[in-house]
Amino acid sequence: MDKKIVLGITGGIAAYKGAELTRLLVKEGFTVQVVMTEAAKSFIMPLTFSTLTGRPVYHTLFGGPHQSSTLHIDLARDPHLIVVAPATANIIGKAANGIADDLLSTVLLAVRLEKYPVILAAAMNTAMLHNPAVRQNMSLLRRRGFIIADPLAGELACGEVGEGRMAEPEQLLSLIKRTLAKRDDYGGVSVLVTAGPTREPLDPVRFFSNHSSGRMGYALARAAKERGAKVYLVSGPTSLEPPAGVEFYAVATAQEMYDVTLTLFPEADVVIKTAAVADYRPASASAHKLKKGEELQLRLVHSPDILQELGKRKKKQFLVGFAAETADLLISARSKLEQKNLDIIVANDVMQEGAGFEKETNIVQLLYRDGGAEELPLMSKAELSHEILDRIKACRQH
Ligand code: PMT
Repeated sequence: MDKKIVLGITGGIAAYKGAELTRLLVKEGFTVQVVMTEAAKSFIMPLTFSTLTGRPVYHTLFGGPHQSSTLHIDLARDPHLIVVAPATANIIGKAANGIADDLLSTVLLAVRLEKYPVILAAAMNTAMLHNPAVRQNMSLLRRRGFIIADPLAGELACGEVGEGRMAEPEQLLSLIKRTLAKRDDYGGVSVLVTAGPTREPLDPVRFFSNHSSGRMGYALARAAKERGAKVYLVSGPTSLEPPAGVEFYAVATAQEMYDVTLTLFPEADVVIKTAAVADYRPASASAHKLKKGEELQLRLVHSPDILQELGKRKKKQFLVGFAAETADLLISARSKLEQKNLDIIVANDVMQEGAGFEKETNIVQLLYRDGGAEELPLMSKAELSHEILDRIKACRQH
């Protein structure tokens, strides 16, 4: 395998597993360039890595023997993948906050995430892992497109038992191989994703909406982009930053989402509708702020069903809907799949812990047009996005 990997080693006891990962990667034929932090050298010698890789190990930002003054840029420019194993709370904090005070943190700041995947194999003590600052940094990095290999539960170096052990080298090797294999498998495919809530105005200051944060849809758009797709993201109002490189359309109402989505539809090969579109809107919106007075009677009318319309117009397109349910999950989702002429529906029991609106994670069942069904375990919305894209790819190939 003619692929170059930059492997960052930071200062944690799991640095010794970094050596095993290096050995496995070299055995698979990868060219491995190791970058160590100062702290990592307290745990393991650079000589171990230079012996395993047959290449010098870099650890200073400037002034190493035969080292270019732009080494950090050179390293970030042309790897096929960067992996930091172990990734301590410190390097995770630096990467999340744009701090670049040594070679590895500077490489992480210089890397173009839309081009190269970066995997951080988190490893730390359980209390540190659950510290809100670390959790926030990890979720921020995930949203920006970093892949975090979650630590495992087990015995830790400090003598405690809990979550925090770095994933095993064999697991990281298979994650690296899977990540590289997925690169560009959506090359030449146009993916249209809708995300977030819609807002249906009542008057100039009030609206009907729902709890959708846009996370699920943005994660799908990012994953499709990472895999080489041309991505159109049509989004209701959210506080999220659109993933780099996607064609972004901001909308507010169901009608606006309908108009933009139907205009883009002929360009799309795959449509994934995660948006939580309001089913009803006020029959009319007042031009002025409604004054407080007697009881207010509202008349609500149906907003357009975007997915149903796409189902009617579909030609080459592969249509994926989401169903947010609070009861009768499978019956309701299956009936939406049929009614809207979908290929897959992703059924979400939004009452389940860890699933649905606003969460970083989701738990879903996939229902297929041919009657098949598949239950997926709790996972991050980023991981779930890749699982869904894998299934779409497999179905389209049949
Ligand atoms: O955004 P997050 O906070 O990450 O939350 C994710 C999510 C819970 C919003 C997402 O996982 C999800 O379940 N999205 C679908 C929500 C929904 O509106 O479900 P529904 O069962 O009402 O609609 C079924 C399908 O029809 C959906 O694909 C929806 O986009 C589409 N629809 C619905 C109504 C409408 N008027 N037009 C539509 O296109």
